[in-house]
Amino acid sequence: MKHPDESAAPAPFSLDDSPIARELSDLTARRRALDKAEVVLTGRTRVLTVSNQKGGVGKTTTAVNIAAALVSVGARVLVIDLDPQGNASTALGVPHTADIPSIYDVLIDEFPLADIIQTSPESPDLLCAPSTIHLAGAEIELVSQVAREHRLKTALDDYLAGDENKLDFVLIDCPPSLGLLTINAFTAANELMIPIQCEYYALEGLSQLLGTVRMIQKHLNPALFLSTILLTMYDGRTRLAQQVAEEVREHFPNEVLHAVIPRSVRVSEAPSFGQTVIAYDRQSAGAIAYREAAVEIIRRDSAPQKEGES
Ligand SMILES: Nc1ncnc2c1ncn2[C@@H]1O[C@H](COP(=O)(O)OP(=O)(O)OP(=O)(O)O)[C@@H](O)[C@H]1O
Ligand SMILES: [Mg+2]
Repeated sequence: MKHPDESAAPAPFSLDDSPIARELSDLTARRRALDKAEVVLTGRTRVLTVSNQKGGVGKTTTAVNIAAALVSVGARVLVIDLDPQGNASTALGVPHTADIPSIYDVLIDEFPLADIIQTSPESPDLLCAPSTIHLAGAEIELVSQVAREHRLKTALDDYLAGDENKLDFVLIDCPPSLGLLTINAFTAANELMIPIQCEYYALEGLSQLLGTVRMIQKHLNPALFLSTILLTMYDGRTRLAQQVAEEVREHFPNEVLHAVIPRSVRVSEAPSFGQTVIAYDRQSAGAIAYREAAVEIIRRDSAPQKEGES
């Protein structure tokens, strides 16, 4: 006869059923899918500005990691660091001390972009136009300059016209403001990419940002459109993150990428090694999510939704 407790005994603990095991097998499947993913580059140069006037939402992290992820599937990419903080230059391992020619010299002294571009140690196809501390004064210095909103566009057009090795993507990392530096980025770009942090207040300020974009479309750059929204720092364990993600998808069903960037220690510690997370830990959850986002960006291409299609 069985002991009464015996039949009620819980099944022995199996690692295969644990949430961690499920997460790992999910990651392995996604990794495999990525390794098999075929992407076709069009040969056109797509210029995306990564903007959001809210601070700390993941603009720089997104700009450098999407850039590295695009390079990992064969693209040639330039990151323009348009933030005086110089975080993108740091993350790409590119020197940007005050004595180094930088995007400041391009905007204020009309240096050719080719003279200041450096190659990231991560890849010969990953280029960076660094920012230095001088850029902090550029916002005010630009006010009195001729064609102050077009300075970056003119420099970029000249560079792209003369560049032997055509670029597939240019990503512009903006500062957290809607001043003249960001307006230069909006004027130079075709596409706007907005990273949204999955936290409370995520959508606050977005209407102001989109209002500025409409003004730019009207007066400075009719080609600019919101092509991409990326949800960042997602913590699936919180209901708040899920709610924010749902709300953003409801508002922008065509723009939000399926890929979502998880909150991850590997992502946040990579810049302290002067690396993107793609180089630092290619198989980590954060790197995989950025690689998925990059593949999606290439596949979606830049064609705006036609009227009535959405
Ligand atoms: N997916 C992530 N997981 C964990 N930490 C992250 C993630 N993305 C960004 N961070 C961290 O959040 C902070 C803000 O990110 P980031 O610098 O990219 O934002 P930002 O929008 O460029 O900020 P700013 O407005 O100051 O330019 C950084 O410390 C970064 O390392
Ligand atoms: Mg930044």
